[in-house]
Amino acid sequence: MQQRSEQLRTEGKTIAFVPTMGYLHEGHLSLMREAREKGDVLIISIFVNPTQFGPGEDYERYPRNIKRDFQLAQEVGVDIIFTPSVPEMYPAGFQTFVEVEKVAENLCGISRPHHFRGVTTVVTKLFNIVKPHLAIFGQKDYQQLVTINRMVADLNMDIEIIGLPTVREADGLAMSSRNAYLNLEERKAAQSLYRSLHTGEELFRQGERSTKVILQEIRKIIEGEALTQIDYAKICDPQTLEDIEDIEKEAVIALAVKIGKTRLIDNLILEGGV
Ligand code: PAJ
Repeated sequence: MQQRSEQLRTEGKTIAFVPTMGYLHEGHLSLMREAREKGDVLIISIFVNPTQFGPGEDYERYPRNIKRDFQLAQEVGVDIIFTPSVPEMYPAGFQTFVEVEKVAENLCGISRPHHFRGVTTVVTKLFNIVKPHLAIFGQKDYQQLVTINRMVADLNMDIEIIGLPTVREADGLAMSSRNAYLNLEERKAAQSLYRSLHTGEELFRQGERSTKVILQEIRKIIEGEALTQIDYAKICDPQTLEDIEDIEKEAVIALAVKIGKTRLIDNLILEGGV
């Protein structure tokens, strides 16, 4: 892959890259379509990265369907699919990690302590292998996007990072490979995430600025559904990801909710305040 990318660069081609863990859905495909437009060559990776899963999390049962993924990738015009194996990425003796501090510490950093270290390490490795000029990520994983932006700036990586909006199902549920875990009843309960974000946004539009008041309403909506258990519901500064009390110009509402055994995340940016 490295040789191939080096050759493409020598030919003057712009390499656009979309890293994924596979089980592709319309959210992934939207990133690929944009990458198709932005680059001469579109490379994606499919790699379920063990270092970003904690003990007892869903690494083993994470959904996989490589045949279908190849088909979908081909349909959106992907040129190269990079699918390394775990021993190739983490051979015996591996011991180097990339760790971003503050922005990775709140939110998912609390409930999944080593998650972002796994993400930033694998993304660094993928960048070194694929050598992209630009890489595209989804705002669905907002903290991941902020963390990667931080890492790229801090470590002088010469790669343009582009963040794109969350693609949702008709009822508002953010698309996610993990939605495949939900049974019918859980799928219905999962609607409460977006419904609560939407209500939070409405309150903000009406002039509410107290995060305490907005979060109370959000919690009420999610807890009103059976099968839900809130991991966190927070309103943070969209750059630093620190909790805020009163919203000034902008903020991000960030949620992590367990529906049965499935942990889902979602977020919404509030902007246009005074
Ligand atoms: P994965 O969950 O497969 O997501 C790959 C990319 O698709 C990420 O940038 C994610 O934010 C984006 N994405 C997922 N759902 C989306 C949606 N509904 N709308 C828009 N974009 C969406 O995120 C990862 O994999 C991994 O952590 C990875 C970056 C590949 C490192 O292992």
